[in-house]
Amino acid sequence: MRLVRLEAPGGLRKLKLVEEDRPEPAAGELLVGIRACSLNFHDGMVAAGKKPCADGRIPLSDGAGEVIAVGEGVDAFKPGDAVVSTYWPNWLAGEATPATKTGELGDDLDGYAREYVCMPWHAFTKAPAGYSHVEAATLACAGVTAWKSLVVCGRVKPGDTVLVLGTGSVSLFALQFAKAAGARVIATSSSEEKQERLGLLGADDVINYRSVADWGLKARDLTDGRGVDHVIEVGGPATLAQSIAACRMGGHIALVGVLTGFAGEVSIPALFSNQIRISGISVGSRTDQEEMIRAINANRLRPVVDRAFPLQEIAGAFSFYESQKHFGKICLEL
Ligand SMILES: NC(=O)c1ccc[n+]([C@@H]2O[C@H](COP(=O)([O-])OP(=O)(O)OC[C@H]3O[C@@H](n4cnc5c(N)ncnc54)[C@H](OP(=O)(O)O)[C@@H]3O)[C@@H](O)[C@H]2O)c1
Repeated sequence: MRLVRLEAPGGLRKLKLVEEDRPEPAAGELLVGIRACSLNFHDGMVAAGKKPCADGRIPLSDGAGEVIAVGEGVDAFKPGDAVVSTYWPNWLAGEATPATKTGELGDDLDGYAREYVCMPWHAFTKAPAGYSHVEAATLACAGVTAWKSLVVCGRVKPGDTVLVLGTGSVSLFALQFAKAAGARVIATSSSEEKQERLGLLGADDVINYRSVADWGLKARDLTDGRGVDHVIEVGGPATLAQSIAACRMGGHIALVGVLTGFAGEVSIPALFSNQIRISGISVGSRTDQEEMIRAINANRLRPVVDRAFPLQEIAGAFSFYESQKHFGKICLEL
């Protein structure tokens, strides 16, 4: 089988396409033919060598494909099933614990940039009905993160207003889940062209965060001064103050991302005096993924895929990701 290994210390030129033997499933495992993967910010950090990992690590946390064979004792899946990986293979349901936050694929463990993989059956769920493998590969990290932020922790309801920042994949999934829940969406983007596409996806209002310096207050103005009910905070230090400014008293901020860096100051009085509820998000459990997929099936949602590269062009796919020209997910097709 063909696969990609990342030689230490990382860097896009250290991504090597190699050939190795196909594995065989042990008891309790699935042999999955991986047909597609998707790229996430975290994978980009690993590939670029900014997040150290073992020499020869197989990158990418998100994979989708077809069950080829099942090991002894597996009855939840059968050959031919279309499946999608889960982000945390040991977080099956309920609250996270230190034990559930282990085995991050493409980082602590080998990921899915390979044609075949054997994993415990619970490291996969069924894919949404009628999805291509490329579409299914978009879900495990970005989709479940948006679902956990907005639906599980945010408890979004019809009539709520949701603020999503930029047009990365978490924000686009959050937009789609918010609209499916009957909420109003205010989105931001730095690009005029992407703003138009946000409108086509259902965003009710779009603010250019480059040309509108106080975009948080602008979002608040758009709610007649009440403030938004939810912010899906993917920006981090350079956006959090504006997200707080946008939020209504008692509103909810899902702390998700670090697009603008890892460290910064936050106004603690602005948080407590406005009684803002904060959820720290680290993707979600297998059950969260199954519930999200039920909602995707019921609402016939389709993910936004920018483009899919062949496996051997993985370095080019990461370069395109770094350019931030994408709208939606960047995938690999195997
Ligand atoms: N905690 C978790 O569980 C979890 C899970 C998944 C991802 N994340 C994190 O969430 C963040 C987003 O991930 P992603 O995959 O959605 O990212 P992505 O696809 O790389 O997002 C890129 C987009 O973000 C927007 N952006 C960049 N700087 C911005 C800023 N200052 N303000 C507003 N938008 C900005 C840009 O949109 P425009 O081009 O439209 O301006 C850009 O195209 C990352 O930091 C990632 O690590 C966390």
